[in-house]
Amino acid sequence: MLEFDTAQEAARAAGEVIRRFLRPETLFRAKELGGASYNLVSDADLESERTIVEVIRRRFPNDAVLGEESHRDDVNAQRLWVVDPIDGTTNFAHGIPHFAVSIAFYEAGQPRCGVVYNPVREDWYLAERGRGAFHNGQAVRVTPAERLDQVLIGAGFYYDRGAMMEATLAAIRDLFRQNIHGIRRFGTASLDLAQVGCGLYGAYFEYTLSPWDFAAGALFVDEAGGRVTTARGEPLPLQPTSLLASNGLVHNAVLDVIRGHHL
Ligand code: IPD
Ligand code: CA
Ligand code: CA
Repeated sequence: MLEFDTAQEAARAAGEVIRRFLRPETLFRAKELGGASYNLVSDADLESERTIVEVIRRRFPNDAVLGEESHRDDVNAQRLWVVDPIDGTTNFAHGIPHFAVSIAFYEAGQPRCGVVYNPVREDWYLAERGRGAFHNGQAVRVTPAERLDQVLIGAGFYYDRGAMMEATLAAIRDLFRQNIHGIRRFGTASLDLAQVGCGLYGAYFEYTLSPWDFAAGALFVDEAGGRVTTARGEPLPLQPTSLLASNGLVHNAVLDVIRGHHL
């Protein structure tokens, strides 16, 4: 599929840009003028997105692009690319090599292929609708664990420091009461989803995500045999939303805990 090849080519080109910026001199600033000091962006984010869109538009000049930094085309377009040029910007800013480029291609509202790429570790998480999920060339599956006391769970906090963070902490506390093996919060939603698909996490949840955070990773989970819904158990919309991804088997048990804290 030409779109799948293009997504990988764009991710590889973005990875080169990001590696160039991965040094202590790179300057980070608050994302919005007067905005929270902990929601960061850098020239690396902007140049990575520019590079990705350039590769896509060279092949598909008329396709719509929804990109975190500077592309807001119509999400209902027949052909749509959903792009996070650096997912895990806070890790990137602090030199923690756990961040990724995330690119998904949608056709008629359905994800067709997705690429999540960590350019430092050279980790590729690839999924194509109906053809499975692959980590560095190996087919992967979600974990067969059936109970909460058999799994690790990933969580994310978004940038909010108010009610959303409190709700997340309360949900984590209640999950611990179900004897889960532990909580992990690595700070990169696309890679969290990849961990569910690879069977490392039994589930991952977050109360607010944007389409560019989850578009590619959600397809990866789906193709690895898992399940992805909102944190209320509804189908996932291609707009800001809560999200629960799991191996399917522990989905309802996690939902029982986290839907109660959903704002
Ligand atoms: C963020 C990361 C983080 C998640 C946030 C996202 P960004 O994306 O995926 O893990 O908790 O909700 O916004 O800002 O680094 O692209
Ligand atoms: Ca992101
Ligand atoms: Ca980002």
